[in-house]
Amino acid sequence: MKRMPCPGLTQRELYLGSIVNVHARQLKLVDYGDLFTRNKFEAQAGRTFALIKPDCYIQTGKIVDAIYKNGFSISKLKMSKFTKPSQADDFYEKHKGAPFFADLTTYMQSDVVTGVELVSPNAIECLRNVLGPTDSAEAKRDAPGSLRAHFGTDVMRNAVHASASSADYQRELGIFFSPQFGPTAAFNNCTCCIIKPHVVQDGLAGQVIDAILQEGFEISSMQMFTLDKPTAEEFFEVYKGVLPEFVGMIEAMTIGPCIVMEVRQENAVESFRQFVGPMDPEIAKNLRPNTLRAKFGHTRTNNGVHCTDLPEDGALEVEYFFSIQ
Ligand code: CMP
Repeated sequence: MKRMPCPGLTQRELYLGSIVNVHARQLKLVDYGDLFTRNKFEAQAGRTFALIKPDCYIQTGKIVDAIYKNGFSISKLKMSKFTKPSQADDFYEKHKGAPFFADLTTYMQSDVVTGVELVSPNAIECLRNVLGPTDSAEAKRDAPGSLRAHFGTDVMRNAVHASASSADYQRELGIFFSPQFGPTAAFNNCTCCIIKPHVVQDGLAGQVIDAILQEGFEISSMQMFTLDKPTAEEFFEVYKGVLPEFVGMIEAMTIGPCIVMEVRQENAVESFRQFVGPMDPEIAKNLRPNTLRAKFGHTRTNNGVHCTDLPEDGALEVEYFFSIQ
């Protein structure tokens, strides 16, 4: 392949397993081209696993944003729930026998959790520094800038779990991203929101999640997907022949991972569409400056987020990702 510039592609997206778009072709990075590249990239491509704990659901956007701001890429993201005691017992196996084990496993089943795989140089140590000490009180005292100082309550409810070692990362990631941790979608009173790849690439997904939660919507299911062209064309089929920018819209949806959410509220489709704003971010910025598209959109195709248009399609669009995919 000839050397050439790839506008839009950043170094953050270059890790094994990543799916990138190079001149309109979707490519999965499966191996290094040579030893020099391997050595260069392996030094910076550490990985770890983090789990946002149940009582921090409402802080999920702020925590994801802090993770991005600390230089991590998110390569996997899923909201799920420990639905059986055995799942929590298995996940925290190494603490079996500790006096807090029963409380910890009960607490972990109390609400939804969001798990992420993170990529950065020296990821395991780096994330543990960003989180601060296990005990939130100690974090507030000794590491006031840490996430546990900001979002933790006590030693057990310490906002975020992080893998302690490379072996723990492999094990915990394998458990959480297995089919036994299913999606938490309800498929009723809902609309579908997709944070578009340009927002994820710019590290702004946490801010979108936070804006949605602060507005009072419930995010009842959430997962990162990388759409290929046929999938994006199938999902957006109703716009084919209707929107002149259909081809650009499909390309915008396939340049990298997106984050799909089930968003719930009474009258969810209509009220969320109002919050998302006009399709054209220029119009949104002028007429509805507090909408998501005014804040996160750039162009009619890179307009920040997709949301369901018609009330009867809300559950269908959510099912497309959380029941069919
Ligand atoms: P985490 O990173 O999830 O790993 C194990 C968890 O056990 C820890 O964060 C806390 O939530 C919990 N934990 C550790 N020590 C104690 C303790 N002394 N009392 C209660 N919970 C604890």
